[in-house]
Amino acid sequence: ADDPRIQAIQSSIRVVPDFPKPGIMFQDITTLLLDPKVFRDTIDLFVERYKSKNISVVAGIEARGFIFGPPIALAIGAKFVPLRKPKKLPGKVFRQEYDLEYGSDCLEMHVGAVASGERALVVDDLIATGGTLGAAMKLLECAGAEVVECACVIEIPALKACYYMSSLIYTSSYVVA
Ligand code: PRP
Repeated sequence: ADDPRIQAIQSSIRVVPDFPKPGIMFQDITTLLLDPKVFRDTIDLFVERYKSKNISVVAGIEARGFIFGPPIALAIGAKFVPLRKPKKLPGKVFRQEYDLEYGSDCLEMHVGAVASGERALVVDDLIATGGTLGAAMKLLECAGAEVVECACVIEIPALKACYYMSSLIYTSSYVVA
């Protein structure tokens, strides 16, 4: 938080009230991507944290983990593995359901993409309840990988479950009471 880059990253994220439904303060990272310096700083902050941790796989969560995960993977010399919503991957998959506010969703990962003993970093744009990251961690553990940490741009601490996390931005302004 004392890194001067963090303030610019935070300022670049547009907060949209009542999207996609009333009461939600949507954290829109598309405005961050419009500024190449801020986008690069975001990636660099993660790369600085993870480059010397012997991470062999970066797993990105659909959809916005597909934006931040690949540049981190390339910079630290790790492979990138997409964790996808149901029925998108053509091969044999590990599947993990997780609870949403109403109902449930599912993430899938190709069997064979990650080998037993690999060291993994999970990347997404935002953690709220932690349900999505929890499912992602289970998928990697199904493949025998060790999840070194989960990395998000934005964390909503009030809603957060307890995981091994690093986040750049902390905000409490996610849900309007
Ligand atoms: C958002 C966000 C995370 C997840 C975090 O994705 O990008 O993946 O919610 O919430 P949680 O910590 O409570 O699980 P969303 O469900 O909107 O899917 P999308 O990226 O496909 O739009």
